[in-house]
Amino acid sequence: RQLVVLDVDGGVDDAQAMMLALTQPHVQVLAITCVAGNVHLDQVCQNVLRVLKVFSRLEVPVFAGASLSLLGTHVDAGHYLGQDGMGDVPDPDPPPADLVQSEHAVSALLRLSGEYPGEINLIATGPLTNLALALRMDPDFPARLRKLTLMGGNIYGLGNVTPSAEYNFWCDPEAAHVVLEGYGSLFPITVVPWETCVQDHDISWDTWDDICAIPTERGQFHAAIQQQMISTQKKHRLFSAHFHTFDPYAVAVALCPEILCKTFYVYARVELKGDITRGTMVCDYNDKWGKPPNVQVVKKLHLPSVLTMLCKALE
Ligand code: BDR
Ligand code: CA
Repeated sequence: RQLVVLDVDGGVDDAQAMMLALTQPHVQVLAITCVAGNVHLDQVCQNVLRVLKVFSRLEVPVFAGASLSLLGTHVDAGHYLGQDGMGDVPDPDPPPADLVQSEHAVSALLRLSGEYPGEINLIATGPLTNLALALRMDPDFPARLRKLTLMGGNIYGLGNVTPSAEYNFWCDPEAAHVVLEGYGSLFPITVVPWETCVQDHDISWDTWDDICAIPTERGQFHAAIQQQMISTQKKHRLFSAHFHTFDPYAVAVALCPEILCKTFYVYARVELKGDITRGTMVCDYNDKWGKPPNVQVVKKLHLPSVLTMLCKALE
């Protein structure tokens, strides 16, 4: 049995990440913690509850965490994923918002790590604010985790939100810095960077159309919430004329490390000051800083396995 906690920011691909985690045999999702990112915090929680409802898993506890970055900012990604982060598909029967637990997400992370020391597989697919706060509230928190996997950052300075910065890191660069330094000094954090998603893992439109044609309720829900992201990607090609997704890769490699094909270890930091490069992850490939690696970068994974996992989740 693997124990998982997901920390998400409520986008379409966060929903896919949840779908994978919720449907893996031998995986127990202990909690889903929410952080502001793609959408504001209340909407993140609502989106998470909606996915849980479609997957008949409303018993999984949902916790609301940080609504702003460590410095107090928030910029959503509504233009890309839909104003509600999930394609603006109306929900005729929304789950009641009071299903969100009263305990703060960061307290829940600390508590669960005490209840299951060394067992939690923590997977983060949004800005890293909750994780940074957890470390600051209890410096021993990372040591009680089994591992940490995240989608975010970049390895060659290729960005999506600015020319050089990836959205999750850019939203809260200080938090990303705290996580890379704090957690990464204890164990290498497995990182799925932006370039890996858009340069090394093209999904053909035929394949994606097949996945979106899965006729189950889950399959049709998944297809419906994709539409805005699909049309954005068709309009603004992400380096190739194929489809790309992001967050589900973090869950896939966290739960099934055997699908990792190519990884490398490196010491990485986050640019906090640059006028035009703030939020960029900088990898010390030439060992200029002489520091031990703090991240394991996922460069290539077995894409067909992830797509099979997704299809199974939707069937
Ligand atoms: C990341 O940003 C968010 O919009 C996505 O959900 C993903 O986590 C990609 O940069
Ligand atoms: Ca996300």
